[in-house]
Amino acid sequence: MTYRIPFNRPCLTGSEMTFIGQAIQSGHASGDGTFTKKCHALLEQALDVPKVLLTPSCTHALEMSALLLDIQPGDEVIVPDFAFVTTVNAFVLRGARPVFADVRPDTLNLDETRLESLITPRTKAIVPLHYAGVGCEMDAIMDIAARHGVQVVEDSAHALFATYKGRYLGTFGNMATQSFHETKNFHCGEGGALLINDEQYAERAEIIREKGTNRSRFFRGQVDKYTWVDVGSSYLPSDMLAAFLLAQLESREIIQAKRQRVWERYDAGLQGWAHEHQVQLPCIPAHCEQAYHMFYLLLPSLNVRQALISHLKTRDILSVFHYLPLHLSDMGRKFGGQPGNCPVTEDISDRLLRLPFFNDLTEGDQTEVIEAITEFDGWK
Ligand SMILES: Cc1ncc(COP(=O)(O)O)c(C=O)c1O
Repeated sequence: MTYRIPFNRPCLTGSEMTFIGQAIQSGHASGDGTFTKKCHALLEQALDVPKVLLTPSCTHALEMSALLLDIQPGDEVIVPDFAFVTTVNAFVLRGARPVFADVRPDTLNLDETRLESLITPRTKAIVPLHYAGVGCEMDAIMDIAARHGVQVVEDSAHALFATYKGRYLGTFGNMATQSFHETKNFHCGEGGALLINDEQYAERAEIIREKGTNRSRFFRGQVDKYTWVDVGSSYLPSDMLAAFLLAQLESREIIQAKRQRVWERYDAGLQGWAHEHQVQLPCIPAHCEQAYHMFYLLLPSLNVRQALISHLKTRDILSVFHYLPLHLSDMGRKFGGQPGNCPVTEDISDRLLRLPFFNDLTEGDQTEVIEAITEFDGWK
């Protein structure tokens, strides 16, 4: 079903089609061609990260991180309970036991004040997720991880170019993952990247991504033939997708400025209404510069949230809820999840509503969304 004002509309910035044409005409449309290399260099320089590798999705980057950390059956991995399925599944796929951490009621990010109590001798990794592109409390998380010898993988899918205390998110953990799915700020339909901050993982990451072969070393002239040297899979996207993505990344300032305008219009248009109706709007701590990835409302109850979704649908506007508590999913219950384990997630997951948000959302359409919300009267 399509809506006059959709939740998301993948947007073009101008050069995508030209670059895709060039990728095809170059005679190298498979992985790791010119455009992939340009995306790697752009991200490495812009973020000051030692090594970036494009992947077909953030999910694949998360799977690569689990392989790189050598996650074994029985290892524990701490993930926020309010997270995407593959944030945890990538580790469960390798046999890890997920340990669900509740989130903070203000930013909806992993609650660092309860993190240490979840660490055991089996804890191998912590996977903080920067929800809505607002930074987790990385100082506290990195300090706890260092004291316990635990690795950190940042799920930075929402957070490209956002900062925490002036430093880019995705540059704190041993590694971090990005998504370029069509719902993200920068996209190529489906896509992702692994950011490697801890250089001890760099060479093995190339091997795992290249089907377990040392093909990259061969192309650099470091070995005279390439062969099967490790486990791995095919975790590299076509250069046509990288071409599309490069056009988006090169326009990052324009894209982020557009998204900032959309975010600020919602914030300005809904502050008074939210205050009047006890609706919580996104919280951006002063030391965080957000990514302008999404705008959400925390409504007073599940019933009100559902009624507002229906009300907006009558105006041909699509708004959507987000993650369900992982510990109460069918899989989460198999790992022992019980109601009450993560009370904040259980509460906010029922009440959260995401509003239409994309680069080219017009001021007129956004005004209509804001008016439709402020005219809602289904508070019971
Ligand atoms: C926080 C988070 N992590 C990971 C993913 C997975 O991204 P992808 O679709 O690129 O695999 C998503 C997808 O929306 C996400 O929101």
